[in-house]
Amino acid sequence: MQESKVKDAFETLFRKDYRLFSAPGRINVIGEHTDYNDGFVLPAAIDKKIYLAICPAGDRSAHIVSVDFDDAVAFDVDGAQPDLPHWALYPYGVVRELQADGHEVGGFHAVFGGDIPTGAGLSSSAAIESAFAAALNELFTLNADRFTLAKTGQRAEHNYVGVRCGIMDQFASFFGKEDHVIRLDCRSLEHEYYPLQLKDYRLLLIDTQVKHSLASSAYNARRQQCEDGVEAVRERDPSVKSLRDTTLEMLDEHKPLLGEEVWKRCSYVVEENQRVLDACAALLRGDTEKLGALMFLSHRGLRDKYEVSCKELDLLVDAAEETEGIIGARMMGGGFGGCTINLVNRSALDAFRQKTSDAFFKAFGHHPLFYDVNTGDGAGESLT
Ligand code: GLA
Repeated sequence: MQESKVKDAFETLFRKDYRLFSAPGRINVIGEHTDYNDGFVLPAAIDKKIYLAICPAGDRSAHIVSVDFDDAVAFDVDGAQPDLPHWALYPYGVVRELQADGHEVGGFHAVFGGDIPTGAGLSSSAAIESAFAAALNELFTLNADRFTLAKTGQRAEHNYVGVRCGIMDQFASFFGKEDHVIRLDCRSLEHEYYPLQLKDYRLLLIDTQVKHSLASSAYNARRQQCEDGVEAVRERDPSVKSLRDTTLEMLDEHKPLLGEEVWKRCSYVVEENQRVLDACAALLRGDTEKLGALMFLSHRGLRDKYEVSCKELDLLVDAAEETEGIIGARMMGGGFGGCTINLVNRSALDAFRQKTSDAFFKAFGHHPLFYDVNTGDGAGESLT
């Protein structure tokens, strides 16, 4: 549906031949706020995507149309940065970061849109970056590999959007594989695919539809606290480069130096890294119950120690914990709103949806949205 909307808009607006690219959003089973701490994550690409129709312009001008925002921008690829609406900072940042890597990016006509809910913690922004990075790489024969392109998207987010995100979202958007989750070591970028076999269980996302405007500054503040923690530990132990190199014992030992709040943030990260490894082992054993239990623990850490949850997310996780057949749930993504991810027995699905929807409405006056999740493949070109 969204794909044909993008194609139709391109044909109407530009009346030219084009190539079609897409890049998916992602879920994350476990491992939150660990990526920028050189830790482990367990994401998967989903079957909801950004679609991008694009062709070279033949000159140095870029024209980008967003179907979803019903808006358009134009800029000179060699010129100074113009005033741009927020959505355009993502593709603009990708162009600039490709150039910063020494690539020759020409002008282009592009139309994009998608079906990834925005602000839901499903990384629609990383999908925009990945779609443009993949497309410009092909269009101008830049010959960059997928690792480099994922990092280009991440840098666009740091330098043009202002969020100092980790690599998880862009990596999942490029490297996703249907029916698999990716265990990614964010330090080495070594990754391994695990079949997502959940037996009688399904993954269900519940979207609070809450979007906090301060989420990106709070995100950067958390990252800063982790860096402060590393800095403090490093004063005594210079071999420590990131929280990946620390243990709970080390953090306890340095607690007076770190202070209570930084200690809480750092110890959450160390514990969450271990939970990702335990979750992978559980997946391999087919122990879905253990995986679910780890998800509940992850939520507790995010709520009490990392403090990135909110009352809407907590209500959803509490409801899951109280319901028979829901064996795991936690907030997903950066936090302060967005979705919870739930591990739900198929037989409990309908009753759980009803019950949760009612409880949520009673507390907050609006209903949450439910998304059944299917995993999907990473970014690439498709036939027009
Ligand atoms: C956002 C960021 C990711 C990651 C998550 C939290 O999605 O873009 O890099 O840090 O939050 O795990």
